[in-house]
Amino acid sequence: MSQPWWRTSVVYQVYPRSFADSNGDGYGDLPGLIDRLDYIQALGADVVWVSPFYPSPQADNGYDISDYQGVDPLFGTIADVDRLIAQLHARGMKLVIDIVVNHTSDEHPWFLEARNSRESPRREWYWWRPPREGMAIGAPGAEPTTWQAFFSGSTWEPDLATGEYYLHLFDRKQPDLNWENPDVRAAVAEMLRWWLDRGVDGFRFDVINLVSKQFNADGTGWFFNGPRIHEFVAEMHENAWGGKQLITVGECPGATVDDAVRFTDPARGEFDMVFQFEHMGVDHGMGGRYDIRPVDWARLKSIMARWQDGLADVGWNSLYWCNHDQPRPVSRYGAGDTAYRAASAKALATVLHLHRGTPYVYQGEELGMVNYPFTSLEQLDDVESRNWSAEALGKGMDPAAVLAAVNVQSRDHARTPMQWDSSEHAGFTTGTPWLPVNPAYREINAAAQVGDPESVFAHYQRLIALRRELPVVVDGRFELLLADHPSVYAFTRVWEGDALLVVANLSGEGVEVGLPDGWDGAEVVIASGDPAASGMTPAHLGVLGPWQAWVRRRQLG
Ligand code: NOJ
Repeated sequence: MSQPWWRTSVVYQVYPRSFADSNGDGYGDLPGLIDRLDYIQALGADVVWVSPFYPSPQADNGYDISDYQGVDPLFGTIADVDRLIAQLHARGMKLVIDIVVNHTSDEHPWFLEARNSRESPRREWYWWRPPREGMAIGAPGAEPTTWQAFFSGSTWEPDLATGEYYLHLFDRKQPDLNWENPDVRAAVAEMLRWWLDRGVDGFRFDVINLVSKQFNADGTGWFFNGPRIHEFVAEMHENAWGGKQLITVGECPGATVDDAVRFTDPARGEFDMVFQFEHMGVDHGMGGRYDIRPVDWARLKSIMARWQDGLADVGWNSLYWCNHDQPRPVSRYGAGDTAYRAASAKALATVLHLHRGTPYVYQGEELGMVNYPFTSLEQLDDVESRNWSAEALGKGMDPAAVLAAVNVQSRDHARTPMQWDSSEHAGFTTGTPWLPVNPAYREINAAAQVGDPESVFAHYQRLIALRRELPVVVDGRFELLLADHPSVYAFTRVWEGDALLVVANLSGEGVEVGLPDGWDGAEVVIASGDPAASGMTPAHLGVLGPWQAWVRRRQLG
C-alpha cells in the first residue's frame, strides 16, 4: 500500500496578518505571502498552512469568522487564494487552510438570525440555555453552567432580548455552533467541499475536539472529547473528503495518546494527525499558562516519548514547538537572551525534527526569532492576553507580575511581524505595522541568514533535507535515552538496519554523559554548537558544549 504523501512533509505555518504586507496598510496579506513563496520553498517546506483569512470582525484575529467562503479585504480577495493555490502547485507545494467550526463570529449571518428570536429557524444552530431555575438572566451565578471560557470569564453570555444565554468557549464574540444539529454538520461538510473544489490540499481544524458537548442538569458537564466527537469527525471526513488523500490535522487540546490513536487510526477515517498540547504545559502550573514554572526537560522528554511510543504502530504524530498561540521557543525553552540564542534554536530544531511525525515550522522560528520585550500592558493586542490581564488586575494581582507573566507567555510574541531584513519595520511593511516589530530585527532577519551556512535558517534547511533523504527520519522507531537527565535530550531512531543517534545539550553549561557503545566514529550527519565552548576537552562522544547538538548515523550489523 502506498504511504500517504504527507509522511515526508514539513509544514510551514503562516499567520497572514504578520507575514508580509504588500499594500502598505500595516497588515500582512495574501499577495504578500505569494511574493514570499520562494523563501518558504528555499527552506524546504512543502506544505503551507495559512491561518484564517476569511471575512471576520477580527476579535480574535480571524479565528472569529463571519463568512466561511470568502476573504477579508484586509488580506486580499478570493482571486488571491486561487493564485496562491496555483503558485504553490506550480512549485509542487500544497495548501492547508484553517477551519474554525467550533464557533463562528457573533457577526456571522447564522448567529445574527439565531439571536433574532427564540423561534428563529437558526436558533438551534447555536447553544442557548435559560438562566438557572429561579434566577434572573444576568444575575451573578445565573449562568447555566460554571464553565470558564478559554479567554477568561464565564462561557455564557446573556442575550437580554431573548432572555437566554448563548455558549462561547472562547470570546463572547465567538458563539459555539451546535454540532448536535445535523444541519450544522451538513453546512460544514458543504463548505469544506467548496474549498476542495477550489484546490486546497488539506485542513487544519481549530479546537475540533471541543465540538461534542455534554450538559448535565446540575450545571456540570464536559466539552473536551465529548461523547459524539469521533462520530462527528468520521462523518465530516466521509461527507467532505472521503476517498481523497489530503493532509488533515485536528487541533485537540486535552487529547491523550489514546484519544489521538482513535483520531488518527487510518482505519477509522478521521484525521491524519492531531495537535496535542501535553508538552505545551510543561512550564505551566495549576493556574494555567500564566502561572509560569521553569521548563522541566525530564518531564517534557517523557511526554514526547510517550507520544512517540503510543503512535508508533497506529496513527501519526505532529511535531511542533510553537505556533501563533505560543511564545517563541528560543525565549521559552532556549537561550533567547544570550550569546547562545542561535545555538539553542538549532538544538531545539534538531531534537524536534528528528522525532517521528510531521514537523511544523511557525514563521520566524527558522530564524530563531525571540519574544517581544513588552514594557506596558497597553502594548498587548491579543484578546486572550488582554482578557487575562484585566481579570488578573481585577483580582488584585501586582501589575508588575502581570506584565512579567505576559512577557513570558503572551500569544503576541508569535504575532509581531516577520523579520525579513534590517530596513525599517524589518521589511514587513512600508506603512505602520499593526503590532510593533521586535527590536531584535536588525540582528535577526531573513536577509542576514539566507545563504549563510552557519545560520539557524540553514540548519532548518539541513534538517528538512535530511528527512527527504533518509527513510529512518520518517519511519525509524524512537527510543529515548537518558530519560531522567535534566538537560540532555538523547534518542535513537532505527529503521531496517539504519540507525541515528540524536543528542542535544539543552543548557548553557557543558555536560558529560554516557552514551551507548558503537557510535564513536559514526558519520556525523548534522551538527551544531561548539563542543569546545564548554571548556571541556571533547575527548569522547558524551562531552557536549553549551547547546551543542548532533546527529550520527550508522548501519547496524
Ligand atoms: C485555537 C487557535 O489556534 C487560536 O488562535 C484561537 O484563538 C482559538 N482556537 C479559538 O479559535
